[in-house]
Amino acid sequence: MLTDANPFIYSHPIAPDDVIDRDAETEQLLASAVGGHFVRLYAPRKYGKTSLLRRVLRDAERRERMIPILVDLYGVLSVADVAIRFERAYARQLKGKTRARIEEFLQTTGLGLSLGALGISARLQVEPRTDPLPALHALLDLPLRLEEGGAFRALVVLDEFQDITRVEGMDALLRSHIQFQGEVASFVFAGSEPGLMRELFEVRERPLYGQAVPMRLGRLGDADIAAYVADRFRESGRSVGEAANPLAAAAKGHPQRAMLLAHRLWQEVPAGGTADLGHWSRAHAAALAELAAEFDAGWRHLSTNEQKAIRSLAATGGSPFQTRVLEGLGLAKSSARSALVALQASAIVERDGDRYALTDPLFCEWIAGLRGAGGLGEGDV
Ligand SMILES: Nc1ncnc2c1ncn2[C@@H]1O[C@H](COP(=O)(O)OP(=O)(O)O)[C@@H](O)[C@H]1O
Ligand SMILES: [Mg+2]
Repeated sequence: MLTDANPFIYSHPIAPDDVIDRDAETEQLLASAVGGHFVRLYAPRKYGKTSLLRRVLRDAERRERMIPILVDLYGVLSVADVAIRFERAYARQLKGKTRARIEEFLQTTGLGLSLGALGISARLQVEPRTDPLPALHALLDLPLRLEEGGAFRALVVLDEFQDITRVEGMDALLRSHIQFQGEVASFVFAGSEPGLMRELFEVRERPLYGQAVPMRLGRLGDADIAAYVADRFRESGRSVGEAANPLAAAAKGHPQRAMLLAHRLWQEVPAGGTADLGHWSRAHAAALAELAAEFDAGWRHLSTNEQKAIRSLAATGGSPFQTRVLEGLGLAKSSARSALVALQASAIVERDGDRYALTDPLFCEWIAGLRGAGGLGEGDV
């Protein structure tokens, strides 16, 4: 190896071959895509949705001759935003003859659409009063045109899909197109806000009600994390030694937190060295320090009742309705209940039967540290 580069990436989606242990999910998504079923994929943020979906798109193209399209809807606020995202997605991903054919079609619409540098966003800049809706209609119909080129079908992934709830009527508009595309395209709707995803797909009155099979992405197994970390250490001339188990235990299966901890650990260990528990505790502390500002902002963003419900959850190890604890915090049981509903809707808290847990294991540690740090103690909670 020429450079001694840290092999653990934690700040952006990872390459398809670096994805740990999502083989079953990959196969399931591919089978659905080939079969023409629509899937909604849910997982909290940073669980590896985008990484997994990129792998599925790669395999769908290689193995099934599908045309892969990934549209990132993060932060869209208007019809124009959505149109630009779709256009840029096609611009990035179409190749060869298909690309030429689609570009020719887009040019003939006269709507300012193009796969080149000057597409609909340029048109909207020069003529801000342009109505972006006809352009969006044309883009949403592209799967029908792709099929004319003889590809098997398109696989269209709509990532951060919950953000379309910010654009009024967008789910109805989408539905009006995709309902005629069952023969030519398969769709995956991926999202990280359980509350909004449920609202879009499980409320009877909503246009997308019942339109997609639900699939949930879970945590990674400790053994898979430990084995991956050990391999990457070895490949980069180090040994993870006795630090692998405490690392996996601290990550609690959270994919991004596992990679962040591994990145920090690797950073502590010199080339040719073996990690020990001293390296591990420095790495662990460094990871928490790196996240402190993010956690502080997240914590302040919560309502007082949500903060109390989380304190109760942390104090009881997952059973937040114990009377003594709630009394100590001055939180009524009914308030605790509704706070926990809200916390689950935004995926800060996850529920497994009657046990509750913070989704992020490091946030949980940070909260545990709060009591000792400041004047937060109420009673003996
Ligand atoms: N299966 C996995 N194997 C290894 N690392 C993963 C995996 N899934 C997620 N990660 C880690 O999580 C980070 C975020 O992944 P990403 O795909 O962007 O998640 P999401 O789209 O769910 O927010 C990646 O940078 C990587 O460090
Ligand atoms: Mg993502």
